[in-house]
Amino acid sequence: MNHILVIGGTGTVGRQVLSRLVATDMQVRALARNPGVARFPQEVEVVHGDLTVAETLEPCLEGIDTVFLVWTAPPSAVAPALERILNSAQRIVFLSAPIKTAHPLFQQPNPLRAMVEQIEMLIERSGRQWTFLRPGMFAANALSWWAPQIRSGDVVRWPHLAAPTAPIDERDIAAVAVRALCDDRHAGAEYVLTGPQSLSQFEQVSIIGRAIGRSLRIVEISPDEARRELLTIGSLPAVNMLLASWAAAIGQPAHVTSTFEEITGAPPKTFLKWVIDNASEFRA
Ligand SMILES: NC(=O)c1ccc[n+]([C@@H]2O[C@H](COP(=O)([O-])OP(=O)(O)OC[C@H]3O[C@@H](n4cnc5c(N)ncnc54)[C@H](OP(=O)(O)O)[C@@H]3O)[C@@H](O)[C@H]2O)c1
Repeated sequence: MNHILVIGGTGTVGRQVLSRLVATDMQVRALARNPGVARFPQEVEVVHGDLTVAETLEPCLEGIDTVFLVWTAPPSAVAPALERILNSAQRIVFLSAPIKTAHPLFQQPNPLRAMVEQIEMLIERSGRQWTFLRPGMFAANALSWWAPQIRSGDVVRWPHLAAPTAPIDERDIAAVAVRALCDDRHAGAEYVLTGPQSLSQFEQVSIIGRAIGRSLRIVEISPDEARRELLTIGSLPAVNMLLASWAAAIGQPAHVTSTFEEITGAPPKTFLKWVIDNASEFRA
């Protein structure tokens, strides 16, 4: 039987992966830094582990065939953690990014890019089976980007409102992840996953306003204002990376792929569907 370890199971995508895996006949284990506070489906075996403390990974990996890897830990932890993971697992499904897609949104200088490339290189060289998931912008970014402003008032201040993206629902990323975890026919595949529509950031905030029945005033702010005001959503290098990507993306539609539908046979969920299903997050 395929025994799967999910790393990142408390996060946006990992949580959805776990909830789908327990509906299969796979044995499922989740690594958690704080097992006491992590809330997982009861069928999941929970083990303590931390990617930055490589020794903790060995017991987590015992008996594991396949790993789902979400990496948000620091670059210094990559080599020792990947060594442990790749020594044990036969197959790895890595939540990566569209770093090879020639669209300006994905090709701006990015401090995390070198780390993602290092992880992929280590996985490829290991001789293990692998699948790389390359989702574009997550619809769920709206929770940290716009929900706090919408919960506290009717004004949304945001830079580069004309920048289009094709936001993808985390449930759709998870649906592809679960196929790749459970079926070795996805070995060697790199899946660039997007939502179904190119929508400017202005259109995305407007969709949220309509879906929750609010009249929002959407105000364009300058990149300099954004550098001061958006430090709540990430570090300055992360904000700068987003600003550069949005600026470069203006003027052409977002990159939209049919990969999700080709793999699952179903259309990807729209941003409106995602907003409706998460509407409570935008209400005070
Ligand atoms: N947001 C986007 O638009 C976007 C687009 C493309 C690709 N991505 C990629 O998607 C990934 C993020 O996915 P996500 O949003 O699902 O993640 P997330 O919600 O930020 O969750 C991160 C997960 O990693 C775990 N984690 C963090 N540090 C850890 C450590 N030292 N040891 C063990 N576990 C650790 C967290 O566990 P705790 O509960 O312990 O914190 C949590 O489960 C990133 O690699 C990002 O580059 C994001």
